[in-house]
Amino acid sequence: MKIEFVGEGALVGEGGVLALLAFEGDHFSPALLALDGQLSGKIAALLGRGRFRGSVGERVSLMTPDGLDADGLLVVGAGPNESWSPAVAELVAAHAYNAVRAGGASGLVIDLRGSSPDVATQAAFGIRLASYRFDKYRTNQTAEQRQFVETVKIIADEPAESARAYEALTGLAEAVCFARDLVSEPSNVLYPAEFARRVKELSHSGLLIEILGEREMKALGMGALLGVGQGSARESQLAVIQWRGSSDPKSAPVAFVGKGVCFDTGGISLKPADHMEEMIIDMAGAAAVTGAMYALASRKAKVNAVGILGLVENMPDGNAQRPGDIVTTMSGQTVEVINTDAEGRLVLADALWYCQDRFKPRFMVDLATLTGAIITALGADVGGLFSNDDQLANNLLSASSASGDPLWRMPMPEQYAKALESRAADMKHTGDRFGGAITAAQFIQKFVNKTPWAHLDVGMTVWKPKSMVPTSPDGATGYGVRLLDQLVADFYEDAD
Ligand code: BES
Ligand code: MN
Ligand code: ZN
Repeated sequence: MKIEFVGEGALVGEGGVLALLAFEGDHFSPALLALDGQLSGKIAALLGRGRFRGSVGERVSLMTPDGLDADGLLVVGAGPNESWSPAVAELVAAHAYNAVRAGGASGLVIDLRGSSPDVATQAAFGIRLASYRFDKYRTNQTAEQRQFVETVKIIADEPAESARAYEALTGLAEAVCFARDLVSEPSNVLYPAEFARRVKELSHSGLLIEILGEREMKALGMGALLGVGQGSARESQLAVIQWRGSSDPKSAPVAFVGKGVCFDTGGISLKPADHMEEMIIDMAGAAAVTGAMYALASRKAKVNAVGILGLVENMPDGNAQRPGDIVTTMSGQTVEVINTDAEGRLVLADALWYCQDRFKPRFMVDLATLTGAIITALGADVGGLFSNDDQLANNLLSASSASGDPLWRMPMPEQYAKALESRAADMKHTGDRFGGAITAAQFIQKFVNKTPWAHLDVGMTVWKPKSMVPTSPDGATGYGVRLLDQLVADFYEDAD
């Protein structure tokens, strides 16, 4: 699909749909007004007669009026004129794209005259994200099902400026889609070594990538991570991704750590069969970290950054870890394993310790599909934020509202950590029935060694069987990529 920015008077032509905005209330956008007077009056009257209110996402398809060179006319609600912004335009343009795609047209022209250049840029970005599909395994689509929108033209007041800004954003769009692909892949295809191979393919962007296998991790003493993978026929891996973009090569990096459980059966504490197939997404934290690192490299962010991925598969097997086993982590602390389905925190324990030990980062943020409890607490759309550092937490909340990846800060009351006391080891790795997302965070905190740290328990934000967000088709959302990129852009890059 090609996205172009054009000036006023662009032709729509055969097979194309012209999309015009209508604001809430008076309905008139500059593009609607620019139609010949009689026509715009008629359209406004039509809209006024129906239920159309002009709220974001509302759409009305109209017959193409005489004198308009297009195969269709789509009026898209743009919300109140006062709140029209790049962020709203991203959603509105994605809605327009989705409608035109569903209708089978091959072209879309969206008229954004009268809006700022960033509005046009962000509209293109929204369309790019909305156009993502994971359909490589479908072999029986009809020609009609495979016919997608081929060209998108955005009518803008400053097309060259919008195009330049969009060019700078395409790396981020690609990074979000790269993460979505990783999450969407089934686990027979995407096992730890294959994940690592795909990460290595990103070297072309300037990222430095190292892969550690089980032998290296054993030498480092990563008994917790290796214990999780020991029931799997696939070798566990640790991926270390570096981006060195700061003008000061010695400046301490920011660090991101991802849970990469390529499939989570629960291990010996086997999960019930219902919905177990969804556990192909249990590497979404690692996918988000990969995407974010790729985005930073694509835009040559002026920062030193590290991404660490703990890649394992949690399987039941004759050699699998048992409940009651005691493992020694890289930090030296011992852990009594209670429920082998709480594997993510064991992976993060060694990955986080390794990260702070080797890189002495400014901070660490980990992302993980860690607990069902966070989904119970916050629902499917909001990630839980746990942190030992208010500044870092606030920066993350700010980046969350700016990027659109929702987060909510959770408490970590000290007395809850008592639930982790073990009969024989330094700690147990799960608490009791209550506050499961909190005790999980408190377990992880024992492996950050006082480094400023935040833990994002991302739950189901990464996967939407039926998406309600127009920029995110059903399936993998790419949650976290924009959030981390925004965090770095807003708070941690070198000043010019
Ligand atoms: N990966 C799961 C958590 C999960 C479940 C994330 C569904 C997203 C959707 C995690 O490894 C897990 O199984 N957690 C257990 C922990 C419990 C055994 C303490 C849980 O939440 O039930
Ligand atoms: Mn589990
Ligand atoms: Zn898991």
